[in-house]
Amino acid sequence: MKIRKAVFPVAGLGTRVLPATKAMPKEMLTIVDRPLIQYVVDEAREAGIEHFIFVTGRNKGVIEDHFDRMFELDESLNGRNTTAEIAELARFQPEAGEMSFTRQQAPLGLGHAVWCARDIVGNEPFAVVLPDELVLNSPGCLKQMIDIANGLGEKSNLVAVEEVPMEMTHQYGICGVGERHGGPDGNTFTIDGMVEKPPKGTSPSNLSITGRYILQPEIFKILETQERGSGGEIQLTDAMIGLAKSQAFYGVEFEGERHDCGSKSGFLRANIAFGLRRPDLRDGLRAEMLRYLAET
Ligand code: G1P
Repeated sequence: MKIRKAVFPVAGLGTRVLPATKAMPKEMLTIVDRPLIQYVVDEAREAGIEHFIFVTGRNKGVIEDHFDRMFELDESLNGRNTTAEIAELARFQPEAGEMSFTRQQAPLGLGHAVWCARDIVGNEPFAVVLPDELVLNSPGCLKQMIDIANGLGEKSNLVAVEEVPMEMTHQYGICGVGERHGGPDGNTFTIDGMVEKPPKGTSPSNLSITGRYILQPEIFKILETQERGSGGEIQLTDAMIGLAKSQAFYGVEFEGERHDCGSKSGFLRANIAFGLRRPDLRDGLRAEMLRYLAET
């Protein structure tokens, strides 16, 4: 199963991190020195993705600019002979034609956002990556999933899952655990039910759907007529429940630490976690943190 395309739904308003996101897309929030969107594009590229599809909205034009060439910047850096910066920008620069942008014109939910990409994806399996969830690990979460997908049947669908405290299950899509299938350390299982944001006390498990999916194109037909669900929005989880009636769904308990950067505390934690992994920043950051901790 070759997965060539990834869809990045980036139309959300980022209300959980206001006022930072009033005029700036939440996907451009910076973890250490690069925006969230750069991390997930890098993760997808590492997983072998060749085409990057962004479902954007009003106020999101700067995401497109981030992946464009900046003539004035290139000129200025070349003139000053700043080789490290030039190399870094070149590493991020996508090839012409690798990226597509389409707009979700109304905030109708994640399922609707994915449906907006149907013509660009076409009739092939594809990945969905939610940019506000970062997974700190190498290989990245999507690469782990694609490696597992390669050992499964042709028409398989996969979602990344992670355990959350039972009292938080109402904030996520939750899946029921069927038979353990295998994968590294038995981390892959068949999903025997899914529910989007179950009311407190009704969750079938504490395995939450994390923002990484591998889906078959038949999901688009279902999304076309999918009714509104939790929160009055067209939910991807509800369409997956429909698709699971005719195709296999697997949950993958991935390796790595998940950071919900769409929340203020998750965003701060991610900055510390990613900063402490950076060889050029680690020692200084650690010393500063210890000093602050001793003072507060
Ligand atoms: C979305 C999905 C949900 C998933 C979550 C992960 O919800 O609908 O199933 O668990 O992302 O972050 P949202 O956070 O957009 O409400």
